[in-house]
Amino acid sequence: LKMDQITISQAKDYVGKEVQLGVWLTDKRSSGKIAFLQLRDGTGFFQGILKKNQVSEEVFELARHDIHLETSMVVTGTIDEDKRSKSGYEIQLSDIKIVGKSDDYPIGNKEHGIEFLLDHRHLWLRSRKPWALMRIRSRVKLATMEFFDKHGFTQFDAPILTSSAPEGTTDLFDVKYFDTDAFLSQSGQLYGEAGCMALRRIYTMGPTFRAEKSKTRRHMTEFWMIEPEMAWCHEEESEQIQEQYVAYLIQDLIDHCAKELEMVGRSVESLKPFTELPYPRVTYKKAIEMLQKGGLDVQYGDDFGSPEETFLADQFKKPVFIKNYPREIKAFYMPTDPEDDRQVICADLLAPEGYGEIIGGSERSYDYEYITNKLEENGLSKKDYGWYDDLRKYGSVPHSGFGMGLERFLAWVTLQDHIRQNIPFPRMINRLRP
Ligand code: 4AD
Ligand code: MG
Repeated sequence: LKMDQITISQAKDYVGKEVQLGVWLTDKRSSGKIAFLQLRDGTGFFQGILKKNQVSEEVFELARHDIHLETSMVVTGTIDEDKRSKSGYEIQLSDIKIVGKSDDYPIGNKEHGIEFLLDHRHLWLRSRKPWALMRIRSRVKLATMEFFDKHGFTQFDAPILTSSAPEGTTDLFDVKYFDTDAFLSQSGQLYGEAGCMALRRIYTMGPTFRAEKSKTRRHMTEFWMIEPEMAWCHEEESEQIQEQYVAYLIQDLIDHCAKELEMVGRSVESLKPFTELPYPRVTYKKAIEMLQKGGLDVQYGDDFGSPEETFLADQFKKPVFIKNYPREIKAFYMPTDPEDDRQVICADLLAPEGYGEIIGGSERSYDYEYITNKLEENGLSKKDYGWYDDLRKYGSVPHSGFGMGLERFLAWVTLQDHIRQNIPFPRMINRLRP
């Protein structure tokens, strides 16, 4: 096989030239005189045109009868501009060589049920929408690295195998670890706190795990989190970083992924308002009032589910911070709210359009006794958390951080009805394959 081919993404530089490409077939239409082959090569999609009077009989018959959905082939032809098509280019084909047959590809160009598609995720990834979603995901990770680099953060990797559980001990995955038990990390935060005392501003980006039994469109058992942690930083400054980060990601997608956004049904126009800062801030108490006025059945002390989050976000048409929740529904490391000691200093960022919480964050108590007591109250042992206590014992400083669920953010900006579309191979309570 000759591999000095061009790609569809390079077509614009080869107008009028004869080139070769390695492609797959995604659709085909033909009559006695002409065949239209829809092609993809991983970098893009475009149309190949095969005219009977311009190629050998053999090649024309091959195209009509032997190539099917997802047949791979090397094609030769001349690139043309094509103003009517989405890609802007097409190829007038002169030759086709089949490389890999594909006789009964299971995913056709008709509607399939979601379970069928998820069972065939290894193939479904080749379709247009998953392709666009994976490109957007990749771009967001790149923009994340750019944003935090520009703001003086060092990337810092938290372990996946741990002996600690920052977000409560109920939804942990156990793994056998030689003669003892370990957990899969549910958050890199505690390690990030150690990191920020060494490097001032750090962020982690990696998979996290929760044995969530909830079958909602917002929960997976394996999801990616981006977790910045900042020393010498109070909650207000952390919230400013959060909104700047979210606005930066959205602007970056507008600048670099307009085509992909269009392919998934998200208009660039509809994203623009989310680049305007600041986002509104509302206290938990005020949120409870708003919900009660709106006729929802909630009391002070309740955590918010999807209906409450959707209602609140709808009032603002922008992401909104809900600040200072009751202690009982938040993690042990959050410090007391000086204005109401039933509460802690924290904020969740809720996305608009019904997508719910995309960021959870807080200030971290830097008081040795407070943390020691909280660890004890929560039954978290010195053996496993003594190191975390040490961070308060040796030169403790105010610090804050947050965690953004990558797939939650992506589902919102790409308007997906379930976050499982935004990760290559989703893991959920009833799905471990493929
Ligand atoms: O609110 P959470 O539980 O916060 C933490 O884990 C903190 N330790 C983060 C920090 O301050 N460093 O989770 C953070 C975010 C949520 O806002 C949500 O976007 C996402 O992680 N998330 C999930 N995403 C998909 N599936 C799940 N099961 C998720 N659980 C949380
Ligand atoms: Mg949360």
